[in-house]
Amino acid sequence: MAKEKTIYTCTECGGISPKWLGKCPHCNAWNTLIESVAESAAGKNRYSTQFQSLAKASEVTALANIDATDMTRTPTGHEELDRVLGGGIVEGGVVLIGGDPGIGKSTLLLQALDSLQRSGLNTLYVTGEESGAQVALRARRLGLDGSQVAVMAEIQLDKILATLQEQQPAVAVIDSIQTVYSDQLTSAPGSVAQVRECAAHLTRAAKSSGVCIVLVGHVTKDGALAGPRVLEHMVDTVLYFEGDTHSSFRLVRAIKNRFGAVNEIGVFAMTEKGLKGVSNPSAMFLSQHSEPVPGSCVMVTLEGTRPLLVEIQALVDDGGPNPRRLSVGLDRDRLAMLLAVLHRHAGVACMDQDVFVNAVGGVRISEPAADLAVMLAITSSLRGKPLPKGFLAFGEVGLAGEVRPAPRGQERLKEAAKLGFSVAVVPKANVPKKPIEGLTIHPVERIEQALDLLRSLD
Ligand SMILES: Nc1ncnc2c1ncn2[C@@H]1O[C@H](COP(=O)(O)OP(=O)(O)OP(=O)(O)O)[C@@H](O)[C@H]1O
Ligand SMILES: [Mg+2]
Repeated sequence: MAKEKTIYTCTECGGISPKWLGKCPHCNAWNTLIESVAESAAGKNRYSTQFQSLAKASEVTALANIDATDMTRTPTGHEELDRVLGGGIVEGGVVLIGGDPGIGKSTLLLQALDSLQRSGLNTLYVTGEESGAQVALRARRLGLDGSQVAVMAEIQLDKILATLQEQQPAVAVIDSIQTVYSDQLTSAPGSVAQVRECAAHLTRAAKSSGVCIVLVGHVTKDGALAGPRVLEHMVDTVLYFEGDTHSSFRLVRAIKNRFGAVNEIGVFAMTEKGLKGVSNPSAMFLSQHSEPVPGSCVMVTLEGTRPLLVEIQALVDDGGPNPRRLSVGLDRDRLAMLLAVLHRHAGVACMDQDVFVNAVGGVRISEPAADLAVMLAITSSLRGKPLPKGFLAFGEVGLAGEVRPAPRGQERLKEAAKLGFSVAVVPKANVPKKPIEGLTIHPVERIEQALDLLRSLD
């Protein structure tokens, strides 16, 4: 392919410049020019031929006349993965999966490809990070002997696209998008321009040929997907792998899904034979204390369709002149807010104390229903008094100290009762009409009321 001219395009206004500049000459935005490829000499956009073929295929039709048959989904054979995908892989769908190094992305995808291949689909695993031998070694360890998954160690985009066209697989995994490069651009693989360009080409290939493409993406130190933000807009589904690498549990969470519900989670356990789905994960994030300890409060979080019981731990200790506030798995800004509410409305002062909060098992909780449990764990640690045995709490706490209901409270309480919890402190609006067997429910409307109640339970 003839080398095309490199230009620089502004990500803000779309203006172009023949050379790189710190400031866009059109809209004056800083640091927005990224490398891209100029239109070819014939004056045609290099994508035009692909677009033409697509344009011919689709006509303008009234919405009511379009056959709205549901997408055919092919289950991957891994129930937990299918749950986050919304039932399975979709023809022409593009999935982006990100996660910390070594968390198990390649493992899960290789297992999924093998099951799909065994179910009769053609699959292709393109590895840019490992050699074919390394992949084969992993397959052997995972017990995937005799696997017919086609493996290609390649990082050049054109060759990958040519192979996709030639092999016509039903599913292809690109591990990882950061290693793929297009020789149209001079920037290094993994750069914003390269990732954007390669992902755009692969997405187009998926849409036009019907192959489902799974892109593995690196994450930055903050845990966000590396590369341009536009990558997440381009693809149909974005999945994140999370979990504590020291524990064997892994969560796969759907952040965006054009073909299914978001915030669904798939739960896996990492074993020597690879990732195994955990179909009943509700008790996974509880640490096993034989007797209650101060600073621990269990809450029920609702991730997607399943309630999960998670232990929130807090440690409050004398701090120096600049006391620290640290949280793992929970939002740190929210922690600062909850400490202020505790002080103002319940008279619990932690100004000169270090406060550490942790959600057990590496799970990340983003819903505010954790507020009440966080505050009770902090108070319990500060006072050095454990909460009663079999105790749990959930509910959002507002700036005025009010305790607000959590969605689907009854489901949360039922799950807790099923796991043997006996005392619950919940927002008043979450109290079910019918009592739940084995569970004493204490409704609260304000945070100070919850703390008073705890004193009376001592
Ligand atoms: N022999 C083994 N026994 C048990 N677990 C293993 C073994 N070898 C590797 N693992 C597990 O597999 C994980 C590596 O998984 P994998 O290579 O799929 O991760 P990844 O997310 O693809 O990483 P990267 O970002 O580096 O590509 C290790 O962190 C480890 O937990
Ligand atoms: Mg990998």
